[in-house]
Amino acid sequence: MAIKIIMDSDPGIDDAAALTMALNDPQVDLKLITTVAGNVTVDKTTKNALKIVRFFNKDVPVAAGAKQPLIKKFEDAARIHGESGMPGYDFPKDLPKPINETAVEALHDVIMNSDGKITLVPTGTYTNVALLFSEYPEVKDHIEKIVAMGGSLGMGNMTSAAEFNIFTDPDAAKIVYKSSIPIVMVGLDITTKALLTPESLNKLEYMNKTGKMLHDIIIHDGENSDFGVAMHDVNTIFYLLHPEAITTKDMWVDIVTDGPAIGETVGDIRGAYHDGKTNAKVCVDIDAAAFNSWFIDEVSRINK
Ligand code: RIB
Ligand code: CA
Repeated sequence: MAIKIIMDSDPGIDDAAALTMALNDPQVDLKLITTVAGNVTVDKTTKNALKIVRFFNKDVPVAAGAKQPLIKKFEDAARIHGESGMPGYDFPKDLPKPINETAVEALHDVIMNSDGKITLVPTGTYTNVALLFSEYPEVKDHIEKIVAMGGSLGMGNMTSAAEFNIFTDPDAAKIVYKSSIPIVMVGLDITTKALLTPESLNKLEYMNKTGKMLHDIIIHDGENSDFGVAMHDVNTIFYLLHPEAITTKDMWVDIVTDGPAIGETVGDIRGAYHDGKTNAKVCVDIDAAAFNSWFIDEVSRINK
């Protein structure tokens, strides 16, 4: 039975790669894509999500979401993902339209009408998810778990303390981590370890049309280095399909919402300060070689 998921995303180069896997793997049933301001504005993240859906000719609805964080001033990541959010490839121009519902309304409707619990996969800031829980708390009983890209037990990538998705909307992240829904924190601790290597990137270029598209956008990712490039969001799908390749540790995670460490995910790593209570399964290690070979294998199976 395929895993029923909704992806809430801010495409975004690595979001585009994650959507590629979710749209094409038969073990994943992607019911809805919602978009949020993050890497670039929500108009651009929505257009980019529609480009990916159109590229694969998939009939998955896309609903546009929040234009800015709950409280914090919006700050994008165009320096990493380019002004468009997904540069480097000439996507089809005849794009589908987003559905008329807002992201929150679409999330509510799909979750409440699903014939089984939904797994929520946020790969951008968590603004839409926080608004959903605030406006429609009844959805919580219909969500299997949340597999969220964001956070770090170690170094951040926006400040030394904070990772981008949490830093951009820490108030939303706090609401999500207090929701009591099982959360898998897919943070920088593993996404900066499982880099897509230069060898993998070269294989993509000549593999098929999908590989060429991913290669052409990934080479524009501002985080490219001689060692490879982090495909942060793709790790959520890898976790869903190959949890055996990722080591997790249950712990209580607090979100810092003000001061110089704003956006930090503070893990009670010794379980010493919350009476044994935990609110997250934190990914602490990953088989980087398995991630690379899975990534290449996944794309090679796409007949496009
Ligand atoms: O910190 C990495 C996260 O920020 C990823 O989701 C990437 O797409 C950006 O949104
Ligand atoms: Ca993202």
